[in-house]
Amino acid sequence: MKVALTGTPGVGKTSVSALVRSFQVLTVDALAEAADAIAGFDRARDTNEVDVDKLAESVGRMGGDALIEGHLSHLLGVDVAIVLRCSPRILKKRLMGKGWSEAKVTENVEAEAVDVILIEALEAAPVVCEIDVTDMSVQDAAGAVEEILAGESEKYPVGDVDWSQEVLDWF
Ligand SMILES: Nc1ncnc2c1ncn2[C@@H]1O[C@H](COP(=O)(O)OP(=O)(O)OP(=O)(O)O)[C@@H](O)[C@H]1O
Ligand SMILES: [Mg+2]
Repeated sequence: MKVALTGTPGVGKTSVSALVRSFQVLTVDALAEAADAIAGFDRARDTNEVDVDKLAESVGRMGGDALIEGHLSHLLGVDVAIVLRCSPRILKKRLMGKGWSEAKVTENVEAEAVDVILIEALEAAPVVCEIDVTDMSVQDAAGAVEEILAGESEKYPVGDVDWSQEVLDWF
């Protein structure tokens, strides 16, 4: 089974996946490099441009179980997409902590606020789970991911996360 661990940049995908033990963990970047699916470099976003179709084909040929982490992982023909969610207010602090520019922070905080990755995941993956990690430790979030990998996806249904009240408070 292939499972994506996805979410807006800064929600904690890399931190959480580092504590997952039951599945081998692969990153989108490493997979893209191995599959020769890096199409270029997005200088404005300081990130690789990945040829998602080429990478999805390569992932489709892979055997075995894997947890694939990265904000494009839900687009790779996975069986399950786990979307980590984080309150935009807290996410802003985390992204500023990464030393990112205000424009890049704002772009990602807005994307989280309007559910961009969740909506993409719902269009791309047959099973989607959401974990609100806002008030969770990295360990607890990894525990929730392990529960989903063990087949308990119904414990983390889509639809419980709603940042609209927080967004309305911005105005
Ligand atoms: N549950 C958490 N509680 C508090 N801080 C966290 C938590 N998860 C991650 N962080 C912190 O938030 C920051 C972003 O985490 P991380 O790099 O794992 O996110 P990411 O989703 O992999 O981001 P990117 O998409 O940019 O790779 C890091 O400084 C990390 O230590
Ligand atoms: Mg990461």
